[in-house]
Amino acid sequence: MSENTSLKNQIILVTGAASGIGRQIAIDLSSRGAQVAACDKNLDALHELANQHAMSVYEVDFLDEKSIMDLVVKVESKQGPLSAAINCVGILGKNGDKIEFLDIQDFDNVCAINLRGAVILTKAVIAGMAERGYGRILHIASISGKEGNPYLVAYSATKAGLIGMVKSVGKEYATSGVTINAMAPALIESPMSESFSEQQMTALKAKIPMDRLGKSQEVADMAAWIISPACSFTTGFTFDLSGGRATY
Ligand SMILES: NC(=O)c1ccc[n+]([C@@H]2O[C@H](COP(=O)([O-])OP(=O)(O)OC[C@H]3O[C@@H](n4cnc5c(N)ncnc54)[C@H](O)[C@@H]3O)[C@@H](O)[C@H]2O)c1
Repeated sequence: MSENTSLKNQIILVTGAASGIGRQIAIDLSSRGAQVAACDKNLDALHELANQHAMSVYEVDFLDEKSIMDLVVKVESKQGPLSAAINCVGILGKNGDKIEFLDIQDFDNVCAINLRGAVILTKAVIAGMAERGYGRILHIASISGKEGNPYLVAYSATKAGLIGMVKSVGKEYATSGVTINAMAPALIESPMSESFSEQQMTALKAKIPMDRLGKSQEVADMAAWIISPACSFTTGFTFDLSGGRATY
């Protein structure tokens, strides 16, 4: 049996770790023996998490380029070179209205956090990984980025941007030993999905053939494989996790 799925003692950075999917991924990786660097802007929630699970915590603000660049330096000097980075930071922004009512300031904010921040994080981690000849980067995108959900223009556009960025960087670093991939979940049980109106929730759930929401642990299980040494011949790809909604 392949030993290549082991993450034992690997140093793995997880952003958005204070809540929902990122939190579950951080807990899951820690239970698999990884040395997790849990990062978020919500430091209180991170401390609470670290009280219950073995991991180090770091504050980061995805609106601030320096904060992201400094984060990577801090984590690597305290814990050692990163094997992998999983980015789970994301916001929905204002939703529920057509583009003619779009608040451009809110659009800019969603772009800054969901896309610009993800690009900066990639830039910050990838050079060291490539120099060492090994690394795994995973961004949590969304089904919204593949299919476009109505009344969620900013969110859908930034998630599509994330998928495009991953395709581009995957080709740039294809021979380096570093892979970069995305994942596109449909609706997952989490604080973010709870913020949808009942009407939106019903409409989004109705699109899922398995007729249920996904679970954070299902995201964590897939993420653990994607960032393992075993997932070695796939880069620039967006993995589906949509209960049968997107079969491509
Ligand atoms: N929940 C879903 O249904 C779903 C579906 C598909 C994709 N996703 C994506 O998965 C990721 C995680 O979603 P979730 O449901 O766990 O959401 P969540 O709201 O529970 O967690 C998001 C985390 O991002 C952090 N964050 C927000 N702004 C930040 C900033 N400026 N700097 C640093 N951290 C910041 C928050 O503090 C929070 O801990 C997001 O990218 C989301 O778009 C979620």
